[in-house]
Order: sequence, then C-alpha cells, then structure tokens
Amino acid sequence: MLDILPPVRLTLAHVPTPLEPLARSPLFEGIELWAKRDDLTGVGLTGNKVRKLELLCADALEKGCDTLVTCGAVTSNHARATAIAAARLGLACILVLRGRDQRPSEGNLLLDRLCGAEPRFIQPSEWPDRDSIMAGIAEEIAAKGGRAYVIPEGGSSHVGTMGYAICVRELLEQEAALGIRIDSVVHACGSGGTTAGLALGFAAAERDDVDVVGIAVCNDKAYFDGVIERLHGECAHAGFVSEAVAERARWRILDGFKGLGYAKPGPDDLDLIRRVANDEGVFLDPVYTVKAMGGLLAEAGAGRIGGRGATVFLHTGGIFGLFSFASELDPS
Ligand SMILES: Cc1ncc(COP(=O)(O)O)c(C=O)c1O
Repeated sequence: MLDILPPVRLTLAHVPTPLEPLARSPLFEGIELWAKRDDLTGVGLTGNKVRKLELLCADALEKGCDTLVTCGAVTSNHARATAIAAARLGLACILVLRGRDQRPSEGNLLLDRLCGAEPRFIQPSEWPDRDSIMAGIAEEIAAKGGRAYVIPEGGSSHVGTMGYAICVRELLEQEAALGIRIDSVVHACGSGGTTAGLALGFAAAERDDVDVVGIAVCNDKAYFDGVIERLHGECAHAGFVSEAVAERARWRILDGFKGLGYAKPGPDDLDLIRRVANDEGVFLDPVYTVKAMGGLLAEAGAGRIGGRGATVFLHTGGIFGLFSFASELDPS
C-alpha cells in the first residue's frame, strides 16, 4: 500500500458502514452485487457527504472558523449534512441555495432550518457566481469579527476528496473479511469528489484492477474528468498523496444516465426505486442513487463490469429527496 497522509479528521459518521449483498431482486440476477451502505452513515447525516465533512470540519476548526458557508440546490443533501455537522459542532451555518424558498419547508430544507442554518436563496442564473457569492458572505462574516470556512459545492475540495480515499481502506478490509474480490465500485457523480477520492484510494492501495465508475447525474464526462484531475493535483500538492498515486489514479465517468435531467426522475427511475425498495428493502433516492443504479444495470448487462468478481454499488444516501416525489412514487 502506498502512503496517503490524509488531513486531520473528526468523527461524525457511523463507520464502517456495512458491505452487504443485494441478491433478492430479479433485477440483479447474474450480478455478484454488493451494496456499500453509506446511506447508513447516520440518520440526519446519511450519505456520502459526511465522510467529506469529517475532514472539512476538522480543517475549519483548526483554522479557528466559527461559521460554515456552503452552497447547493434547495434540495441539497450536502447543504443539509453541512447544517447538521455545524449544529453538532456548535458552528453557525449559512447556505447559498439555488431555487425558491418553500413554506412550509420540506425534506432537506426543513432539516437545514431545524438545525438553525440560515438559507440564502439565489436564482439559477446566479449559480455560476456561487463561489464569489460565498466569498462575499465570508467577508460579511469577517466584518462582524467572525471567521467563515467556505466549502465548495458538494464538499468537493481537495480536503473533502480525501474522505473517499480513506473509505477505500474500509472497503478493502471488508473485501478481505468477506473473502470477495472487488471488480468495480459504481456510484453517482454529482460534484466529482467521491469519484476523485475513490480513485486515489485504490491507486494508493495499488489496486489498478478495481474499476471506479462514476455515473454522471449532471454535467458530463469532460467536465468531471477536468474536476477530478484538478482535485488529484491539489491533493498531491497538499501532500495528502504522492504525485505517483495521483498519476496512477484511474476512473471512468459514464454519461447517458441522466434521463430527463438533474433531479428529474423519469418513469423508469421511479419504477426502479419502487422495485429495489420492494425487493430489497433499500431506498434509492430520485436524484443520485437511482441514476447510479440505472448505470450499473446497463454496464452489467453489457458485460462491462463484474467480470472479475464483486460489483459494489456505493449507496450515497439522499433518502430525504424521496418525499418530494411522494405522489409519483406512491404505488397505491
Ligand atoms: C445522495 C448523493 N449521492 C451522490 C452525490 C454525488 O457525490 P459527489 O458530489 O461527491 O460527486 C451527492 C452529492 O452531490 C449526493 O447528495
């Protein structure tokens, strides 16, 4: 195993999360499918974002910050996880949210508010300026004597990226304990940090045989390849991984599974959510994990994954998004 020197980290997630078979559904027949249950990292803190936040919040505390500032859609899982982490750590939290306010608020926005985060709504047309909007908020906080820690979209800074590099160690320990061989790790890609971290972790472990497959739920392969390369360069520059590990890292981003578009589940997606819930008792979310599962089934069907052993579906959470689609999903 090559070295990774992750930044300081605090404990927010319930880990290790289980690695368990998905073997009941006829959908999965012929696939040696395992779910890495990162939807079980916590109740409020369910999902992949908390692995990044353990590092990001530690960095914020080390830098003497008293406020977390981040951004996302009104329905953002990352914003919700940041709001909860802030409450857990006694920090203030300001969320720059794309879209309209909802009253009464529901889903993630309700949880943001319950945790005392301050939402600030912006128009979709302002989204390209999100980083400068957050920088402005940081200045505003500084003018009042506070200190902000600005977290980019999805928690995907180089610090946050290391969360999934560390998670690979957990996966490899489980692989050994279960006596399986991991062929691929398929997951949703929304801001690139999860894919970037996994790729670094497997490179550090010298496991070039593992296919790290990110299913793009927004943007496209060219965009994410650029983001991931940048993050790898920044992780190496910060000394979290060697240049050799950053260069060795491999991943595949797959386009073609966005369906109707970001956060727009189509009839096939809704059906997949129902079937996996019914057959396996596992809830896919309508924005990320259902699209990742769609990509996984297509890749397995085409024989492009699973040839060397276990296909791991990284369940990245998102359950609170289900409730916004109650009328479309209700099977009755
Ligand atoms: C439930 C869920 N899955 C997957 C992702 C994608 O992860 P990443 O932003 O690291 O690409 C996100 C956030 O964007 C998410 O909220």
